[in-house]
Amino acid sequence: MSIANPLEELTLADLRGRTSVKWRLHPPDVLPAFIAEMDVPLAEPVVRAVTDAVRRGDTGYAFGDAYAEALAAFASQRWGWDGLDVGRTLMVADVMTGLTEVVGLVTAPGSRVVVSTPVYPPFFDFMAKTGREVREAPLGEDGRLDLDALGAAFEDAVAGGGPAAYLLCNPQNPAGVAHTRTELAAVAELARSYGVRVVSDEIHAPIVLDGATFTPYLSVDGSDDAFAVLSASKAWNLAGAKAAVVAAGPSAYADLARMPEVVGHGASQLGLIAHTAALREGGGWLDAVLRGLEENRDHLAKELDARLPAVRWVPSEATYLGWLDCRALDLGDDPASVLLERGRVALSGGLPYGTGGAGHARVTFATSRAILSEVVERMAAAVAG
Ligand SMILES: Cc1ncc(COP(=O)(O)O)c(C=O)c1O
Repeated sequence: MSIANPLEELTLADLRGRTSVKWRLHPPDVLPAFIAEMDVPLAEPVVRAVTDAVRRGDTGYAFGDAYAEALAAFASQRWGWDGLDVGRTLMVADVMTGLTEVVGLVTAPGSRVVVSTPVYPPFFDFMAKTGREVREAPLGEDGRLDLDALGAAFEDAVAGGGPAAYLLCNPQNPAGVAHTRTELAAVAELARSYGVRVVSDEIHAPIVLDGATFTPYLSVDGSDDAFAVLSASKAWNLAGAKAAVVAAGPSAYADLARMPEVVGHGASQLGLIAHTAALREGGGWLDAVLRGLEENRDHLAKELDARLPAVRWVPSEATYLGWLDCRALDLGDDPASVLLERGRVALSGGLPYGTGGAGHARVTFATSRAILSEVVERMAAAVAG
């Protein structure tokens, strides 16, 4: 049985009834398109699993490997990757916790952590909070990994002789690039030659659009001492149902085994139940969302062409995020603040994404086509007026 496009099921009135940050950060006259939340009802298997758990009163402490097992099965089926070893995983509260704690294990205060910019802003804040120094390796003009820049950043990161890490965003937020196996193999080679530990954020992994392929970093040759952090949260809209999985490569497990016990206490029982159901039984729903996202991405490209042809955008091959180059609009370094003020539409400002963020804004296209049209209409009105 085919599943109707979940992105077309909810009205703006339904969505405004939500209490998440997307719908409550701004006053009701603002149309939000800034954060990575999807405007969808939940997949039926998720609703059923959580409802059944609540009915059973199954809200005690989480136990077992069901989430990691479901993820390993999903990875095998979707990505043809059979190397996710449940015995080398740890449940954590969310992806940022997993990344931060793993970097904490393999580096020391004062260590350098390389990120490829522009990139998800909390990479900067969370690393700084734990006393790590962030070093940028800007992406190329085409938004893809620039191996020369990465090599230079690795060299700088290990210059003092201490441990260093690379926080890889795979696929890349905000530009929606799915790194290829060839690119990732080159990253692994570079990391090995400099002794830099790679920690791969794979939260957007299930969201690859037609023609693109997601490559799990741990499936790449030379990634044995790396980590990946995965979650069902983006693909099934479960960010508030806290849970994520840290996976260690074969020679990284000894490090993961040193993780303080408290870190493994963060995932919520209902979150684990929701994420597990999504991975096990939510494949059909995900496929319906992916088809809808492909339509939306193309719709957004058309709307921008028609109403704001000066905005440059390389349509995303992964994620439901669009990284818009607004420099030709002459709205300054932070176009999102002008669009918000004049157009009452909320995009994410590009500046916190690091080098390459000025003059850019990130839009979330995981919504209905009607809302997406209105987002662009409000942007165009802001530019006109
Ligand atoms: C690349 C990336 N990493 C991490 C997160 C946050 O994940 P979590 O809420 O599981 O910490 C996001 C959220 O959008 C993201 O885009």
